[in-house]
Amino acid sequence: MGAYPTTRLRRLRYNKTLRDMLAGVSLRREELIAPLFVREGENDQRSIASMPGQDQYSVDLALPIVGRRRDKGLRAVLLFGVVEQKDDFGTRAWSADAPVQRLTAEIKAKYPDMLVITDTCLCEYTKHGHCGTVHPVGPDEMDVDNDETLVLLAKAAVSQAQAGADLVAPSAMMDYQVGAIRQALDQAGLHRTGIMSYSVKFASSLYGPFRDAGESPPQFGDRRSYQMDYRSPRQALAEARADVEEGADILMVKPALTYLDVIAELRRNFDLPLAAYHVSGEYSQIKAAAANGWVDEKAVVLETTTAIKRAGADLIITYFAETLAEWLE
Ligand code: PBG
Ligand code: ZN
Repeated sequence: MGAYPTTRLRRLRYNKTLRDMLAGVSLRREELIAPLFVREGENDQRSIASMPGQDQYSVDLALPIVGRRRDKGLRAVLLFGVVEQKDDFGTRAWSADAPVQRLTAEIKAKYPDMLVITDTCLCEYTKHGHCGTVHPVGPDEMDVDNDETLVLLAKAAVSQAQAGADLVAPSAMMDYQVGAIRQALDQAGLHRTGIMSYSVKFASSLYGPFRDAGESPPQFGDRRSYQMDYRSPRQALAEARADVEEGADILMVKPALTYLDVIAELRRNFDLPLAAYHVSGEYSQIKAAAANGWVDEKAVVLETTTAIKRAGADLIITYFAETLAEWLE
């Protein structure tokens, strides 16, 4: 019987006030990062079928959305570009007049206190939808060229930083991407621009809805030669360590809920701030179940995001940021 009935663990749970006092984990709006898809064109808003409640906006329509999020107490957005002119290299990723660069400049002019983070990758800008340049590596095999891609990622990052991005967020999973970007930023005099690295990014089926949203599915093959294999968790430490050595300012684990163990492991092993990306498939699953009346959306989102914090994330990137901001009021 142990110490029962002297020890009754439920005594700490009878009183709601005491339960609230003992809540060791809580969410703040300041810890949320809201992704935003910005597209080419004008006065153009398009819904994303697989992500109910999320839309692509042209720059002119995206700016008021950022203002609305700011009014709700959000402090940071993560920008993704949707472009029309795609080529083999992803040239539009470093165009000063591309949607991400234009929106970044407009946000920093109108809402200078809003933190702008830009996703730095090529898959939304390449015809083939891969995160770098591709070449044949065998009779029937194509692959992304790591070192050639580094040069292009660095150009994209410098262009985003010149537009005013506070943090660039390399997501291509190329070896040495953080180092190459840090070096290029510093050479361009942009030593104040930080790097939030997608350090530990798994090849995940949970990115499916995003590839609709970003119009960026790979046209052949998959991303397993660069994104991590979820059966090999120890590689996560090596990836994070490399990013720390290369000069990352913030580390990230992605997706979130299926990798809470990895978030906890990184928290134990590194001192840098840690972000977790609650990705598109995680969002859409909750949305679909809630739309059917099978789960209570608010309760599930609060439980899910609190779990991500509890695992050790300092920052949460989530498509629920705006609704969460309302609920946390
Ligand atoms: C670009 C990128 C992707 C996501 C963030 N940046 C897609 C991918 O790697 O296939 C996924 C985000 C999400 O699913 O919400 N490399
Ligand atoms: Zn990519």
